Amino acid sequence: MSVVTAISPADAAGTPISPLIDPFARVISYVRVSVTDRCDMRCVYCMSEDMNFLPKRDVLTLEELDRLCAAFVSRGVNKLRITGGEPLVRRGIMGLFRSLARHLESGALAELTLTTNGSQLANCAADLAAVGVRRLNLSMDTLDPDKFRAITRWGDLAQVQRGVDAAQSAGIAVKINMVALKGVNEDEIPRVLEWAHGRGMDLTLIEVMPLGNVEAERVDQFLSLSLVERFLSERYTLEPIAFATGGPARYLRVKETGGRLGLITPHTHNFCEGCNRVRVTCTGTLYMCLGQDDAADLRAPLRASQSDELLHAAIDAAIARKPRGHDFIVDRRGAKPAVARHMSVTGG
Ligand code: 5AD
Ligand code: SF4
Repeated sequence: MSVVTAISPADAAGTPISPLIDPFARVISYVRVSVTDRCDMRCVYCMSEDMNFLPKRDVLTLEELDRLCAAFVSRGVNKLRITGGEPLVRRGIMGLFRSLARHLESGALAELTLTTNGSQLANCAADLAAVGVRRLNLSMDTLDPDKFRAITRWGDLAQVQRGVDAAQSAGIAVKINMVALKGVNEDEIPRVLEWAHGRGMDLTLIEVMPLGNVEAERVDQFLSLSLVERFLSERYTLEPIAFATGGPARYLRVKETGGRLGLITPHTHNFCEGCNRVRVTCTGTLYMCLGQDDAADLRAPLRASQSDELLHAAIDAAIARKPRGHDFIVDRRGAKPAVARHMSVTGG
């Protein structure tokens, strides 16, 4: 006869985990951590040309980031995504990846991933693969070098393409993120789709979200993906599939290419229902929802003591306030963003 002793989940060492469960009974298993607000590009929808970046003392050290991630992992978070800004421009970032790999080895983490602009990937891909990174998301809005320069202001397409090559050679699965911009890259969507699928990469299209004050008018840039889907379905056979990554994308299979197409439509579809995630900025501010301003400071409890009790208490208090969903609307009258912080602050 067996005696059932474990009534709550336990970690690999048998220590009980008290999971993070929000007021809507959603289990928080996925944390996105921004490690820097800096970037070596200035995408027009993301940043203004002359951004003011944070002073160093405000940004969590790599050791603090490591402690923070470990605290979440000890609460049952099994997926970590490292973002920025551009995460790979942070000095010493590979040391953080190497350290986080211990949670992959213990089995506590199912996945360690990152979102990158690819500029540093040619140098980093092999090391990322060596620590256990199996997938990454890479932003690529166009395959035209001049347009790429125009959208990213500072980016070099050829360098990013070398990064894609390096990631794929290292055995990392690459998913391409493409922000759909009206009058800018909308006519290029089939080309990017065929390029991505031709190389065995998924493509996800993203509607511009009203985050942060940037120069261009949101209303002018906004391109509805319902229109794009209609247009694409005239050229391709699009079949809805049940594939889910735990993210907000809805997936279609493109019959002609055999590849997957994801659509992230924060405006037209509410993706909040199954939200399993929270985001932490590089200053240790925890955002319970990408589209809401409510946040909790985790830096003060991190810095107040070497033990993690205060940190866990702050995390618990924050998760207890996680809202049901976002309130994105592109303001038709003005360029006022729904949320004042930039994507590079919260992490994409
Ligand atoms: N709206 C939609 N996507 C954005 N990104 C950055 N800013 C915005 C925005 N305002 C995208 C980047 C990248 C991902 C991290 O987020 O292009 O693919
Ligand atoms: Fe940098 Fe990404 Fe923002 Fe572009 S979208 S400026 S690559 S953080």
